Amino acid sequence: MNIDFIYRFFETLGYTHPLHPPFTHLTIGLVTGALIFSLIAMIPRYGKFAQTAGHCISLAFLAIFPTVILGVMDWYHYYGAGWIFPIKMKIILACILALFLLLSVILYTGRGGRSGALLLIYLLSFFTVVGLGYFGGEIVFAHKFNKANGQHPAVEKTAPPGLKSAEVVFADVQKIFRDNCRNCHTGANPPKGLDLTSYQEVMKGSKHHPVVIPGKPGQSELIRRVKGLSTPQMPLSAPALPESDIRTLENWVKAEAPGPES
Ligand code: HEC
Repeated sequence: MNIDFIYRFFETLGYTHPLHPPFTHLTIGLVTGALIFSLIAMIPRYGKFAQTAGHCISLAFLAIFPTVILGVMDWYHYYGAGWIFPIKMKIILACILALFLLLSVILYTGRGGRSGALLLIYLLSFFTVVGLGYFGGEIVFAHKFNKANGQHPAVEKTAPPGLKSAEVVFADVQKIFRDNCRNCHTGANPPKGLDLTSYQEVMKGSKHHPVVIPGKPGQSELIRRVKGLSTPQMPLSAPALPESDIRTLENWVKAEAPGPES
């Protein structure tokens, strides 16, 4: 299914970001509101706020549908529907949250909002949205930070000693693919759907998942394959790549996998 046209439409309006993140604030805000108002409702004479909490949670229940749909769309569009770990966590947590919210709405309409069970579910919903936000952050920002030393790649690029990642250009990478991989990974039906002829195809990955996770050589299947960390090692039925080629590929991924025009 090709949904690129939706993103192109938003680009013509001047909006070039993922669509999911702005909507997440709606759900997070409403769930947080429900928790705060239900706590206030415990104070004598402030019981009416239980109703406010109930309204918040009902709206959160409505908000979760567009949020999830847009999240799935972004996952298709930006991550080629790759089953990376934070995505799995987000899908599990989103299902749990939907269940909590449904339960809250049922309990609220049934009991008018003031019950210990309801407060507990508000609290659990709150922790679930925090978890969702955390894994969302992992997806969007984690690759931009080098976790090992807590440095931003911009820092890494301006700090020359040893690391020449900023100097890696896609042309070098493309040459390695041309000389070693393209006799197989090209054409109408390349192995696992992985075509290594153009930057776009490389970044699109195989039919299962992206093979390049920008900034994370250790998690990029392409790097794992040429190092033999994932088997069968690539290039298939040929000697392993020379150390210098492997380093070039690794540095390219580390430098956020720049394209031919950058
Ligand atoms: C002789 C043919 C051949 C050559 C040459 C070759 N590959 Fe492969 N490649 C395959 C086949 C077949 C598979 C599927 C193997 C499997 O995982 O079961 C594969 C799988 C892969 C995968 C895993 C895709 C996925 O979905 O996980 C990556 C990444 C990959 N190759 C990268 C490379 C790179 C990089 C090179 C060059 C350095 C290369 N290949 C050279 C045949 C080849």
